[in-house]
Amino acid sequence: MKILVTGGAGFIGSHTLVQLLRAGHEVIVYDSFANSKPQVLDQVKLLTSKDFPSIKGDLLERDLLNKTFAEHRPDAVIHFAGLKAVGESVEKPLDYYQNNVTGTLELLTAMETHGCHNIVFSSSATVYGTPKYLPYDEEHPLSPESPYGRTKFFVEKIIEDWTISNPQASAILLRYFNPVGADDSALIGEDPSGIPNNLVPYIAQVASGVLPHLQVLGDDYETRDGTGERDYVHVVDLAAAHLAAINYATSQTGCDAINIGTGTSITVMEFLKAFEKTVGKPLPYKIKPRRSGDVAKMEAKVDKAKALLQWESERNLENMCETTWRWQRYKMSSN
Ligand code: NAD
Ligand code: UD1
Repeated sequence: MKILVTGGAGFIGSHTLVQLLRAGHEVIVYDSFANSKPQVLDQVKLLTSKDFPSIKGDLLERDLLNKTFAEHRPDAVIHFAGLKAVGESVEKPLDYYQNNVTGTLELLTAMETHGCHNIVFSSSATVYGTPKYLPYDEEHPLSPESPYGRTKFFVEKIIEDWTISNPQASAILLRYFNPVGADDSALIGEDPSGIPNNLVPYIAQVASGVLPHLQVLGDDYETRDGTGERDYVHVVDLAAAHLAAINYATSQTGCDAINIGTGTSITVMEFLKAFEKTVGKPLPYKIKPRRSGDVAKMEAKVDKAKALLQWESERNLENMCETTWRWQRYKMSSN
């Protein structure tokens, strides 16, 4: 199959490219490199010994997007491109709506114009908001609490409406829980600019001495040890879910939202302890107040992914720590 991958140079996109290419698919990457480097694509080529075209372009560049569809005629799209920082979305909501919502409208319009009917979209567990019950199933009410989360909510609805209007259209909305880890090769991984917002890249930078200590954001939650509990899913497992989702999307029509997590959750202190074991030394931390907007616990119900995609996560916490640490050391040595 020929697959257009928007945002293919990013963290999740690059890991997905590896699996698509290994499975024999043809890919075309469309990425503005707003939050990634073109060199990532060279690493993917090195890893897979396969070549593929890439276009440096923004979803908002209508002519370039149409030219890309006309030239390459993809059968399906995996749509990763988007801005993803929750805090930044509160400061710059219009940028987030423009990039994520208008960008997706442009993409769907180009798909419609060029007769491409299949899409897999990167949504997020953040669309659920504060849990009414756990684990979240896909029927849980949607109540996103940030502009970023609302862009995901609106795009889900736009895609769903498109599939209702177009009987040939097929869409899978993948609601990721917390993606972490890196490829076993350590040639690709998550590369946040500046101080990381997310727990695992932060711990990796503490372990390598870039940051002095972890700030544990709250130890008085109603969880096993008082620190926040999340459903961390390995990015290599997540990439495999996209392969399954694109096969599923092209075999049916309509729109389905599917949780992608492990179905279990890990606390901040448990993650820290596991990382200490991987690096073989204690890691400094300080207890700080809760971060506003955080909830005690998030956990996915994963039955729908098993039933529809025959997908379930395979990698454990130890592997999440090992691959993150290998990637962190590679990054430090190559800078
Ligand atoms: P990322 O920032 O590493 O990758 C996104 C890519 O999209 C980048 O390469 C960026 O340059 C590109 N991009 C952004 N806006 C663009 C535009 N308008 N036109 C073309 N390219 C554009 O992020 P990621 O972690 O790989 O996330 C991929 C997707 O998954 C995003 O949509 C994100 O919101 C979603 N998601 C991520 C997480 C997570 O924790 N990483 C969790 C849930 C959902
Ligand atoms: C955050 C985003 C969410 C996004 C997800 C992607 C917020 C409010 N939510 O989720 O929309 O989909 O990232 O991975 O930003 N923690 C610390 N110290 C830190 C950082 C985090 O203790 O320096 C704690 C948090 O309080 C939380 C856990 O670690 O309990 C995980 O945090 P994080 O990695 O930021 O992910 P989420 O908040 O779940």
